[in-house]
Amino acid sequence: MAKKKKEFRFIDLFAGIGGFHIAMHANGGRCVFASEIDKFARQTYEHNFIKISPEIFENGNFNKDITDPELDYSNIPDFDVLCAGFPCQPFSHAGLKKGFDDTRGTLFFNIKEIVRAKIEANKLNKKVSIPKILLLENVKGFKNHDKGNTFKRIKEVLDDLGYEVSAEVLNSKHFGVPQNRERIFIVAWYRDIVKSKEFKFPWGLDDNGKVIYDKEKRDERAKIINVGSILLSQDELEALEERDKKTYTISEKLWAGHQRRRVEHAQKGNGFGYSSFNEESPYTSTISARYYKDGSEILIEQDNIPNRPNRPRKLHPKEAARLQGYPIDSWYEIPVSDNQAYKQFGNSVSVPVVTTIADEIKKQLL
Ligand SMILES: C[S@@+](CC[C@H](N)C(=O)[O-])C[C@H]1O[C@@H](n2cnc3c(N)ncnc32)[C@H](O)[C@@H]1O
Repeated sequence: MAKKKKEFRFIDLFAGIGGFHIAMHANGGRCVFASEIDKFARQTYEHNFIKISPEIFENGNFNKDITDPELDYSNIPDFDVLCAGFPCQPFSHAGLKKGFDDTRGTLFFNIKEIVRAKIEANKLNKKVSIPKILLLENVKGFKNHDKGNTFKRIKEVLDDLGYEVSAEVLNSKHFGVPQNRERIFIVAWYRDIVKSKEFKFPWGLDDNGKVIYDKEKRDERAKIINVGSILLSQDELEALEERDKKTYTISEKLWAGHQRRRVEHAQKGNGFGYSSFNEESPYTSTISARYYKDGSEILIEQDNIPNRPNRPRKLHPKEAARLQGYPIDSWYEIPVSDNQAYKQFGNSVSVPVVTTIADEIKKQLL
């Protein structure tokens, strides 16, 4: 018998191109509000999600700027889960000492205020629902940001609001995508409604798609993959290059620059400069929002490929989408330029990681 999907409502803040939206929707979530400020990310978001969540575009719930003073948080529709991959900003130390709200002026403040508005409204009218779960994502270094103060304050603020908090750094390479990407995920649940003592984080997926709950076993048990699994075939790549009248092979000048810098870096003893991979490589380095600049973090070797130039190439945007686990081979589409697409996928979450977390949230907490 097919497993019945538990239905729940979610909001997608700092939505980017909707990594969380795909994950939550796949688990029975209905998006009731989203917010994204960047014009091009909004374009990709609307292009794709108008197909599965048309209501938010029809009823004005695709907000542009979450700090907009015109936006009254009490008008945000009720939701069960809040998702946000928010920018990491320091809180004011001075504020803390003087008893001011030290999160004010940061984007975390807006997350907190949205949640607080719902909790306050519930005190006056029980029909307003309290957000049960918050799922936040940030860079790995977030825990140590501002000597650990930022993370500590976030935990305190969530605790004061009534939430239990659990956080771990997960790596995309353990979830079936060949990318070494470490990100912190914070899961918080409202203790008066969700009676769980803990949240068991998923650490990866094995060959059968089963969740690995033992952190120590993840390297040994995670599904074995390689970079070849996200690469276009040579024929596909050449057909796309021909169609779009462009090449993904980097220019001779750029290649010479990368090689020169590698020598300079080696002489100074600091790192490698560019990183290159082939289809046998187990994973790439992390794709970032700056990938469009020179591609140096992920170059694909071509020196042994017949009829291809003897220089590496950048990822095709379709390959960048696959590297982040986007369903680009089924329904997801890229309506923007290559440079915008690289920025958007570099900024995004890896979809299989958040889909697995969403599934666990549903099983353990909702
Ligand atoms: C790290 S990205 C999150 C990407 C997203 N998790 C995804 O899956 O694509 C942060 C996003 O927050 C957006 N942003 C920054 N300030 C904002 C604001 N004031 N209101 C709405 N969105 C904002 C940025 O444009 C960026 O796309």
